Amino acid sequence: MPRHVAVIMDGNGRWALGRGLSRTQGHRRGVEAVRRIVRAANGLGIEYLSLYAFSSENWSRSADEVRELMGLIKRFIRQDLAELHEAGVKLRVIGARDNLSDDLGKLIDDSEALTRDNRGMTLVVAFNYGSKDEIARAMRRVAEKVVSGAVRPEEITPGLLDAHLDTAGIPEPDLLVRTSGEQRLSNFMLWQCAYTELIFVDALWPDFDGETLQQAIDEYHRRERRFGGTSARTRGQ
Ligand code: FPP
Repeated sequence: MPRHVAVIMDGNGRWALGRGLSRTQGHRRGVEAVRRIVRAANGLGIEYLSLYAFSSENWSRSADEVRELMGLIKRFIRQDLAELHEAGVKLRVIGARDNLSDDLGKLIDDSEALTRDNRGMTLVVAFNYGSKDEIARAMRRVAEKVVSGAVRPEEITPGLLDAHLDTAGIPEPDLLVRTSGEQRLSNFMLWQCAYTELIFVDALWPDFDGETLQQAIDEYHRRERRFGGTSARTRGQ
């Protein structure tokens, strides 16, 4: 089983437009898919599930849509946290906090604190997240340590940068699934996905379910991961 599965949840808007519904209704159905996948992943024994819920570029959407997405994450945490906690799920939210409303920031901090010691699956929600922004913030913290003398320039290694990213302590994704047929990373975990297996599925996010997840995992098992090395197959043995 892949330890860490990451998902770029795409296609809520197209799902809604195809049914003559509003984009808002697409996002609401998207939250139902989130609930299904969290349960399915937990049941499969996946240790880390990461979901890309709001990117640092999503602020360019209409004010109404941004407000709706902010409201949905708050409602999701308020309504589902008790059940997640009960199931032993640990919540981690990655992304910038400084430009989120105070109440959302506090809700996130409190939820992470409540579930910190849980031993079940870690649910990583990428919210107000952009990989380039995350790397720049990490670099800034490392630079401050260099200036203060706490870190010497020659001590800057991939491992040190890892420890300053929002994902510190979380293993790199083994499998990344993107729904809706689009084939790009859209500024998601660019550093962490160096050797991640990428799987693109046509299903729109609101239609994604345990069966589609299982199909992606089956495809993952057919892949050969070499991490830049060789295998008996590629050595011709
Ligand atoms: C992409 O579809 C989806 C998003 C930008 C938002 C995803 C958010 C949710 C599923 C709900 C909130 C999340 C949680 C964890 C409660 P799109 O709008 O880009 O679709 P389109 O490409 O068809 O327009």
